[in-house]
Amino acid sequence: MKFSTFYFSGTGNTRWAAAELTKMIQDQGHQAELYSIDIGAQLSDGQIRAIVADADAIGFANPIYGGDIPPIMRTFIHRVVGLVGPLATAKSVYVINTYGYVNAFGPNETQKLLAGSGLTLSAYVNIQLCNNVTSSKPLDRAKLAQRMVRGRQELNRLADRLIAGRKRIRGHGPQLLIGTMIRKKIPEAIAKFYQTLGVDRAICTRCMVCVKNCPTGSIRLKGDKFVFSAGCTACMRCYNFCPTGAITIDGVVADPHTFPRYQGPEASAPDDLATR
Ligand SMILES: Cc1cc2nc3c(=O)[nH]c(=O)nc-3n(C[C@H](O)[C@H](O)[C@H](O)COP(=O)(O)O)c2cc1C
Ligand code: SF4
Ligand code: SF4
Repeated sequence: MKFSTFYFSGTGNTRWAAAELTKMIQDQGHQAELYSIDIGAQLSDGQIRAIVADADAIGFANPIYGGDIPPIMRTFIHRVVGLVGPLATAKSVYVINTYGYVNAFGPNETQKLLAGSGLTLSAYVNIQLCNNVTSSKPLDRAKLAQRMVRGRQELNRLADRLIAGRKRIRGHGPQLLIGTMIRKKIPEAIAKFYQTLGVDRAICTRCMVCVKNCPTGSIRLKGDKFVFSAGCTACMRCYNFCPTGAITIDGVVADPHTFPRYQGPEASAPDDLATR
């Protein structure tokens, strides 16, 4: 069997989870592929159609933003549905979400996006890792390690179910109520987030890491000024991965000693857990 997962990961949590599932499926002797949806990955319409046609099931993996799907993944799922549907024969879809403190989501939003396409949600898991939003709280590495262990267990169950062709939908419950509340407020804040971003020119070394790695192509250097534009999906990648900590939010430089940056499970968890 073949499973192909499209993923978006701002800071590495979701990439870790999607890569774990991919390895688990491969370890059981099946085919599994992983595709980034970042602008830099440049997936063409033809490639997307071929990937979907070739797979027995396709996956979407993304972090949770404000109890919802980040705009970049929402747009991508719309694109996939437009490119493939409506399908004559239903094709299974699995979803992996990662989150930091409260998922507040459930599978319903994905189901809405897939409606009428022939792409049918058959499996959904939500994996708690840690928050990637700026914080003065030091990262709790031990807690992250525990969550990675639990995450692997959940992903193993997902791999087994996918291979067996059985449904597994997790994430219903009271979280959905909270999600309904947050989902009303956050989209506008995410859409305007680019307006809060800036660069401290005194600290910036012009290494261009932020420009090259922005998943939506929302950072440009115009003359000697960095310009952030609409389309930014508020992923925090530029902020967390700037080598000098020069990205500002609301004009403020967050000192990396006081506001530790988050660079994903591989960089943050104890070594024996980060790699298997
Ligand atoms: C703009 C934004 C909004 C977020 N909203 C939520 C949320 O509503 N609930 C939650 O549990 N975590 C939230 N988080 C945390 C991320 O979901 C979490 O850190 C995720 O695992 C990051 O995945 P990534 O490293 O693949 O980008 C948010 C993060 C960002 C950047
Ligand atoms: S990543 Fe940081 S140092 Fe490099 S160009 Fe961007 S803001 Fe400047
Ligand atoms: S500008 Fe920064 S926060 Fe916005 S999408 Fe690009 S990397 Fe992410």
